[in-house]
Amino acid sequence: MSVIILGIESSCDDTSAAVVKDCVLMSNVIASQQVHEAFGGVVPELASRAHQQNIVPVVSEAIRQAGIKKENINAIAFTRGPGLPGSLHVGTSFAKGLALALDIPLVDVNHLHGHVLAHFIKEDENTEVPTFPYLCLLISGGNSQIVKVNAPNDMEIMGQTIDDAAGEAFDKCAKVMGLPYPGGPVIDKLAAEGDATRFKFAKPHIQGYDYSFSGLKTSFLYTLRDAIKENPNFIEENKADLAASLQKTIIDVLMDKFTKAIKDTGIKTIAIGGGVSANSGVRAAVEQYCQRRRIKAFIPKRTFTTDNAAMIAVAGHFRYLDKQFCDIAAPPFSRVTI
Ligand code: KG4
Repeated sequence: MSVIILGIESSCDDTSAAVVKDCVLMSNVIASQQVHEAFGGVVPELASRAHQQNIVPVVSEAIRQAGIKKENINAIAFTRGPGLPGSLHVGTSFAKGLALALDIPLVDVNHLHGHVLAHFIKEDENTEVPTFPYLCLLISGGNSQIVKVNAPNDMEIMGQTIDDAAGEAFDKCAKVMGLPYPGGPVIDKLAAEGDATRFKFAKPHIQGYDYSFSGLKTSFLYTLRDAIKENPNFIEENKADLAASLQKTIIDVLMDKFTKAIKDTGIKTIAIGGGVSANSGVRAAVEQYCQRRRIKAFIPKRTFTTDNAAMIAVAGHFRYLDKQFCDIAAPPFSRVTI
């Protein structure tokens, strides 16, 4: 029998609801919050208020677009964490209330598992999905991890950042350049016009598969600070080259550990996920590396790189099949607890 899951995502500043039937996407509605733009970053209190305004219309619209009735839903999957506590509370409370009202199971999903399993969102029955085990480079605003995925509900973190995430490196360096938030997509655009070999920034020397981006951020800041002393227009005159050189350094750091993990494990199926996996340079680097070595690479559609409920619904589908249900009293968690 088919399984229909309603997914709800509210971990940060996107309110999203999606319906999947046996992982085939029936709807994916996302309400992004513009209210933060003026503040140069997400304001938690404003985010939770906006989630409260958005959650009912977004869920209703997802059910309407899927062409189903509420009574057809088998389970409700929701992001339990990590994320902003106030934002998570809105989605969690709504999911619990609806599950109780419909008398159906509630499934809690780790947001990061959602990113890793986003490759199982099927546009139709024929969508190709990864085989197990696969290695996923999970890169977002809050995390940078190399995850070995043995099965949908069996993941091991091989390495992760010991300080900043890759997305933070993009965003914080962009802020130093006076670019708007989030800086990642802006750097990506500027980098297309720039010379990536023009500037050199510090790269970390960390053992194993772990990442570090705080040294790079400091090195970027000092380079700019020193250059501005000589030429106050330095940033404006070198915007594209700075962006391209920064992007290349971040990609080199990411690929160094990721390719080490690929070689060491011998795994021939790899994937990328999370907001930074939308980056053109990251996508090209992973594609090129894999093409040369006949490794199968799963690069997500850009819609599924940022926060969305489709990935939560799909991750929830697998937990539902394994009967991993959530207690109605379970609170959200703001930090990673995989
Ligand atoms: O996964 P995500 O939407 O949110 C979480 O952190 O959970 O990731 C957001 C991050 C931000 O740091 C943003 O700057 C970055 O993803 N990002 C990009 C690009 N698009 C989004 N970074 C580099 N290039 C992009 N094209």
